[in-house]
Amino acid sequence: MEIDSAVRQRLTNANQIHLLAYWSELNDEQRQILLRDINEVDFERVNQAYDAIKQELLTETNGQTKTETPQVIDDIMEPIPDHMAGSINEASKEQLDTYRQQGLKAVSESNVCVLLLAGGQGTRLGVDYPKGMFDVDLPSKKSLYQIQAERIRRLEQLANEQYNTHNATITWFILTSEHTQEQTEKYFRSHNCFGLKRENIIFFEQHTLPALDLQGKILLEEKYKLTKAADGNGGLYRALKTRGVLDEMKKRHIKYVHVYGVDNILVRLADPIFIGFCLEKNADCAAKVVKKTIPTEAVGVICKVGERFQVVEYSEILEQTAHRKKPDNSDELVFNAGNICNHFFTVDFLQDVCQKHENELRYHIAKKKIPAIDNNGVHVSKPTQINGIKLEKFVFDVFPFSKTFAVWEVCREDEFSPLKNSSGAKDTAITCRRDLMLQHVRWLQQSGAHLPSDIEKHIETVGKTCEISPLVSYAGENLEYLKGQKLELPISIDKKNDKQEPDIDLPKKITLTNGIKPISIQTNGIHH
Ligand code: UD1
Repeated sequence: MEIDSAVRQRLTNANQIHLLAYWSELNDEQRQILLRDINEVDFERVNQAYDAIKQELLTETNGQTKTETPQVIDDIMEPIPDHMAGSINEASKEQLDTYRQQGLKAVSESNVCVLLLAGGQGTRLGVDYPKGMFDVDLPSKKSLYQIQAERIRRLEQLANEQYNTHNATITWFILTSEHTQEQTEKYFRSHNCFGLKRENIIFFEQHTLPALDLQGKILLEEKYKLTKAADGNGGLYRALKTRGVLDEMKKRHIKYVHVYGVDNILVRLADPIFIGFCLEKNADCAAKVVKKTIPTEAVGVICKVGERFQVVEYSEILEQTAHRKKPDNSDELVFNAGNICNHFFTVDFLQDVCQKHENELRYHIAKKKIPAIDNNGVHVSKPTQINGIKLEKFVFDVFPFSKTFAVWEVCREDEFSPLKNSSGAKDTAITCRRDLMLQHVRWLQQSGAHLPSDIEKHIETVGKTCEISPLVSYAGENLEYLKGQKLELPISIDKKNDKQEPDIDLPKKITLTNGIKPISIQTNGIHH
């Protein structure tokens, strides 16, 4: 098998001819793999990406710190203007009700979809399967995916109830990557899509980019195989365009998209309050945020830079800027809007971004130790030093194109507890499980149930449990029937005998398991 001269020419022009260095050593099968990999690469995109970051990379590699860059950003960073921001803590009950109604109406008309970013490899968590399949050891053993699916089902039901409709549909778009596509689809299939209709779950795969060495040369994983890495969660925009997803959204009359990260166990999918707030603000693009816990917390902050909005990552902000306090003695940070990877977009905005600006989104550099063939033709599976870079786009890098941007602040304990680490004090399976159960305790307290006074302690330290199925309650509603009841841990409120198809017209049976003895309560629909 000989190499096509056109391929050779393409590689020469792209300055990547080294990819054929081992051609004479390869058998026919390996040559085919190599040619297929080469054919899949958009060399123009790769080289343009490298040219754009070359200066930054060389500056850093030469030992200079990054303080010069943040200084420039810090000088022009401003907080989000008040008229574009809202907060669940400051809004009145009437205002929140109005937002909720508006959001539910949009859901009842099937104008809202959710879009899950599930292409990450979960490197920090250290599991070899997609993060959404992770079970944080709740009594129900539900995975993150199942919790999310059930929140969708419950919200559809709430919207149908509220607006007397029957077919409210929240289509679930799931962005996967080469690493997660197969396992994720298989997992959903084997769990019968957790009761959602198969046709309302749409998987689509993001693209990959080869990893490069520090001089911009594509790294070989094997002598016959190129390295490949997902192109970051901002790869969403390229995939939306190339995989026909925007057309599908239009076909389904979807107008609003809620985009979120896979790892937040408290995520409120298609949160009607957030959707309603965005509609009220006429936002084309918006972000949900939480207040930072400490000035140096490792979350990006949303701010205004010049005339545009963007996320400035914690690595890009100077410490003194991160510590700046408001002049009103409130002790509040100036840059306090912590990004939680939870965004709202109109379909029109996404269409505009994908058509006109996708190529303008910059690549961020991640310097890595990448298993690869070294300059001596030896495969190094565990490099001891950084030998290359991966290029990633970020989902929030479209904010600067927004014409009507908005920011909605929520309570961390109600809406943000991510699963990032396998151990440690922060963002682990243990903290996720604890935060979800403490939230369920608060819901029961708000419903008027009588609970032991030291219940939080029992959950945090003794390992007792309290879990409410998302099929029963999306955000604390639907628990009024427990008013005045005396409950002891463990508490498990689930919907039993549930049919695969949500059917709000039939009576449902809610089983409250209080300790060992189950109490069954017959209910009619979702009202009690
Ligand atoms: C992200 C945010 C950060 C925020 C934090 C809160 C970005 C770029 N950064 O950081 O500002 O403070 O969440 O939790 O959004 N993903 C893909 N494809 C990829 C890479 C990632 O779909 O190629 C998905 C992941 O599966 C995940 C989400 O994007 O659902 C966020 O990625 P992750 O790597 O967890 O981002 P963080 O660094 O935690």
